Amino acid sequence: MCGIVGYTGPRQAYPVILKGLKRLEYRGYDSSGVALMNGGKLKVFKKKGKVAELEELLIGKDVEANIGIGHTRWATHGEPSDRNAHPHSSASGRLAIIHNGIIENYAQIKKELLNKGYTFTSDTDTEVLLNFIEDIQKNNNNGSLEEALRIALKRVSGAYCILLVDQNDPHTIIAARKGSPLVIGIGKGEHFLASDASPIIEYTKEVVYVNDYELAIVKPDELILKNIGNETITPYITKLDMELAAIEKGGYDHFMIKEIFEQPSTIYDCLRGRLDAAAGTITMSGVEENIEQLKNASRIMIIACGTSWHAGLVAEYIIEELCRIPVEVEYASEFRYRNPIVNKGDVIIAISQSGETADTLVALEKAKENGAFIFGIVNAVGSSIARISHAGAYTHAGPEIGVASTKAFTGQLTVLSMMALKIAKEKGSISNERYLGLLNELQDIPEKVESILKNAEDIRKIAEHYKDASDFLFLGRGYNFPVALEGALKLKEISYIHAEGYPAAEMKHGPIALVDETLPVVFIATKDLYHEKIVSNMQEIKARKGKIISIITEGDDVTPGLSDHYFEIPPADELIAPILTVIPLQLLSYYVGTAKGIDVDKPRNLAKSVTVE
Ligand code: AGP
Ligand code: GLU
Repeated sequence: MCGIVGYTGPRQAYPVILKGLKRLEYRGYDSSGVALMNGGKLKVFKKKGKVAELEELLIGKDVEANIGIGHTRWATHGEPSDRNAHPHSSASGRLAIIHNGIIENYAQIKKELLNKGYTFTSDTDTEVLLNFIEDIQKNNNNGSLEEALRIALKRVSGAYCILLVDQNDPHTIIAARKGSPLVIGIGKGEHFLASDASPIIEYTKEVVYVNDYELAIVKPDELILKNIGNETITPYITKLDMELAAIEKGGYDHFMIKEIFEQPSTIYDCLRGRLDAAAGTITMSGVEENIEQLKNASRIMIIACGTSWHAGLVAEYIIEELCRIPVEVEYASEFRYRNPIVNKGDVIIAISQSGETADTLVALEKAKENGAFIFGIVNAVGSSIARISHAGAYTHAGPEIGVASTKAFTGQLTVLSMMALKIAKEKGSISNERYLGLLNELQDIPEKVESILKNAEDIRKIAEHYKDASDFLFLGRGYNFPVALEGALKLKEISYIHAEGYPAAEMKHGPIALVDETLPVVFIATKDLYHEKIVSNMQEIKARKGKIISIITEGDDVTPGLSDHYFEIPPADELIAPILTVIPLQLLSYYVGTAKGIDVDKPRNLAKSVTVE
């Protein structure tokens, strides 16, 4: 977790770093800090809480410097506090470090250092790593810091992206990465370093994505990239294809609501250039180039976490229905640590917004070692999961900053639907009529999402009504069962209200015991195969005096009578209906969260990108 920014060049480093940290706050906001160097003198400032608190602390302070590093933390080792905040200084005070990740064997290294008389001012694994590096350098006849770092990294296990500065080398930042992301922006006589491109984009569009086991020695006018074996690597420069406006709030109160309202255009962008309903074609090069492997797969495994895992569950229903290929959906964290059966040629679909989720990444590495074919469905272009996949398709939802995933989810469902349709068509497991019908349905989705968003105010009123509930139940059947899970997850994340999602029919096997007149139950009860069944489930709740909020299809004249509140959405084929039914649930969680005064973009204890296992 955590966000990292670094700068070396002719500008004042502090404003560049501060702005960058604000953009990276989605990655963690337990504390933040900067180390600034001026004329070979290091100054470290840090503060518990959000970046705004660091900013306030530094008002009136001497922040003059042309080189600096900054960090916004999501604590793994040691409580969120001033003293555990990064940057950390070495025992001599000569070095400062920021770190994203976990040093797994820190306890053992710490013991060795304690035996040598080192003392520590924080509880972090990061401070241990820094003193370990300094100790190695001291014992190496004060050889280069770079060499000491290389030796240290060979000894540590875990994940890291670190930036180091040294008072004895006042223009250089040394960086290294394994498992946590690092992008370097190349300016004219200056360099920018960050966990993602958002802090860099307003200064330069030329970037280098640093790979695992690489070290970068970064000076204002020089970038040297090496591997851990000390061989020089030619940096591969890529051009950023994103605008700054895309990552700013654009007039909305929060990124989350901006991103919810962006969905008609993000879904359109996802379909654009791929779906041509009139011609009856779907163009997806990643699928086309691997079509034999995909259509002949004896099974498909989907690996993901959180909201992306919910998209995987919807895909299980879609792929099995259209392609007649068995699908298993796995939590990445579970897949990683059990002993799953993965054979050469098995197809794995990895789903991730950030492309940096450690659980997913590590699970994929394991599957790849066993010879699986990895197809990545990722939003963040150039991210680690995108790069370790053999093939893939981007969701093209643009940067998602709000911690609660919204537009990435509908993008994932759109890509997965197109992918399933394409495989089914190639395999011959779908009739031409159904195929063309679904293509037309998909094409109409952005417009339907737009029409749902026009009635957002109705959801705000419903949210106002139920904002003080202590529990919620979300129920759906078939394709809408994973949507119920997603609705519950969103509400938990953003409003801190306890919520559970269940298949509607499963309710009677236990959760129904929770129902009384205080419990709001959200039914996703659109017109589909199971409509009559879900109406019976609604009756069961009503008979026990639960409060019913239903998401229904326009023109349904049965369910309104059973509901305390209802919200209508346009009719859609049940297979792609989840792209629509999830929208009112996203809005519900947003409006409940804001009505309760919660900072919905940065809910407590969460981070946007979970880069620790
Ligand atoms: C969703 O709102 C989450 N905050 C979280 O569950 C997220 O979906 C999960 O951490 C997976 O992230 P990824 O898609 O970036 O891999
Ligand atoms: N492990 C470090 C800490 O707890 C870094 C965590 C992070 O990535 O934010 O401070």
